Amino acid sequence: MPPSSAPASASGPRLPDAPADERLGEYVPDLASLPRFHVWTLGCQMNRSDSEEMAGRLLAAGCAEAPSMETADLVVINTCAIREGAEQKVIGRQGHLARLKAANPGLRVVLTGCSVREPDRGGLRRRYPAVDLFLRPDEEPELVDRLGLASAQGAIGSAGSPGAVGATTTVGRAVVGVADGLSATRARAIGEGTIARGSAISAWLPIIYGCDKTCTYCIVPFSRGPERSRPFDDIVDEARALAAAGYREVTLLGQNVNSYGHDLAPDPRFVHVDAERWAGRRLDLHGRPDLAELIRAIDGLRTSDGRPAIPRLRFVTSHPWDLSDRLIAALADCPSVCEHLHLPVQSGDDAVLRRMGRQYTIDHYRERLARIRDAVPGITISTDIIVGFCGETEEQFGRTLELLETVRYDQVFAAAYSPRPGTPATRLADDVPPGTKRRRLNELLALQQAIGLERNEAWIGKDVEVLVDSVAPARGHAHDDERGELPRVVGRTRGNKLVHLVGDPDLLGGEVTVRVKHAGPYALRGQYVPVSDAPMR
Ligand code: 5AD
Ligand code: SF4
Repeated sequence: MPPSSAPASASGPRLPDAPADERLGEYVPDLASLPRFHVWTLGCQMNRSDSEEMAGRLLAAGCAEAPSMETADLVVINTCAIREGAEQKVIGRQGHLARLKAANPGLRVVLTGCSVREPDRGGLRRRYPAVDLFLRPDEEPELVDRLGLASAQGAIGSAGSPGAVGATTTVGRAVVGVADGLSATRARAIGEGTIARGSAISAWLPIIYGCDKTCTYCIVPFSRGPERSRPFDDIVDEARALAAAGYREVTLLGQNVNSYGHDLAPDPRFVHVDAERWAGRRLDLHGRPDLAELIRAIDGLRTSDGRPAIPRLRFVTSHPWDLSDRLIAALADCPSVCEHLHLPVQSGDDAVLRRMGRQYTIDHYRERLARIRDAVPGITISTDIIVGFCGETEEQFGRTLELLETVRYDQVFAAAYSPRPGTPATRLADDVPPGTKRRRLNELLALQQAIGLERNEAWIGKDVEVLVDSVAPARGHAHDDERGELPRVVGRTRGNKLVHLVGDPDLLGGEVTVRVKHAGPYALRGQYVPVSDAPMR
């Protein structure tokens, strides 16, 4: 990840800065304790955000970033455990890592993220033999200390034996750190300015850690522990700092952002919040901040001329269970909130949803969707689907196809069910044969491809506002009409549609008007409309 605030990649171990006071010289870490590091991040946005935090801590400790595993002295692997395939990617690299370690005996490998679960320590050692240190997600802030880099008193890997275990406790179904300090360590990192953000345009902003939900297929509650909301003011302060630093887009992150605040103490500022969870375990939400309050507060950060200081505000992921009317009203009222909602449905069949422990029916889901579409006309909707869950019949799968036909999602992220050891669904028979899962997945993707294309074609000829966030790779987008020789940039509409356009890199960070010329199932292509040509809005 190229951190925006990082020093340019050095070509060898970095020399520590000279101490301001020469008497401090003896405390300056020596070369051997300043490895060049490389972070390999798999999985979701939360992992990417966590990696920004870890990279920032390593940079602050004086380490430099290496462009690849092959050139690093410290490899940090931030894993995803959502499906077996994601874990296999890392397991499959163990031989390569072992060879790198043989060639560079100083190389240390740290494995963190969702694959590191407390009851599974022995298994971890077997599956990941090249790894020196395992850190649970809640232990990530300890990375620098556990490697002995904070004090540089010891060589890396010597702080605690490899695989050392921090003190833990059991909360609900998960084993987590005794003193979970993610909110506090995040606040400290923000205060010290040590987050190595991967972009200077769009920023991740974690608001709630963990997950309390009851999805029987999902490993997250076991790997990330119960829900812990960050303090309201910390989040607003971080958003304010991002606005001041010129960020144009902020995405609020959490495995379940809609549940934000239920675990925080009541606060007189929020006496007017009078909500109750409408499904599953009852929760008293009275007098506490919720996502709606948070969105309104961040939207309320304004420039001197009254415009939202952060022009684009997003949030992922929402669980339909906690999608309140208060939140829908906030989406409709706040001009900075982008007109896009990712609302995972997982299946179109009530019996499958029940087995999945999702706590809603398709009627509930459709009711929420209708209300959102009513409140925010034109909002784009995306979803997640699992095909071939335990006991899914052809008829039940057919209901998922039917749901896609009628909802007409803009984007669908679909995968075949992958049993995750330790999750409740492993007590059900994984009885849909792999070939059937594959066939259903292909059928669903083909249907969505046609729907996505139709949804995107509706944009042809229209002008959209695109936040340009990256320069397109040199090759691969050569189209006859534009010869592929002109510089290309990429951005997203407020509805989260990917748009390619011909334009100079100096458009980066700009919100520009683009006339859509071409649509594919997954992206649009258009022409930059300079301000003087753009129709008045
Ligand atoms: N198998 C397949 N897909 C899964 N997901 C979560 N757990 C599993 C699993 N065991 C999918 C869900 C979720 C997304 C992040 O990953 O669709 O919304
Ligand atoms: Fe993967 Fe889920 Fe962990 Fe994100 S939270 S890294 S999607 S298992």
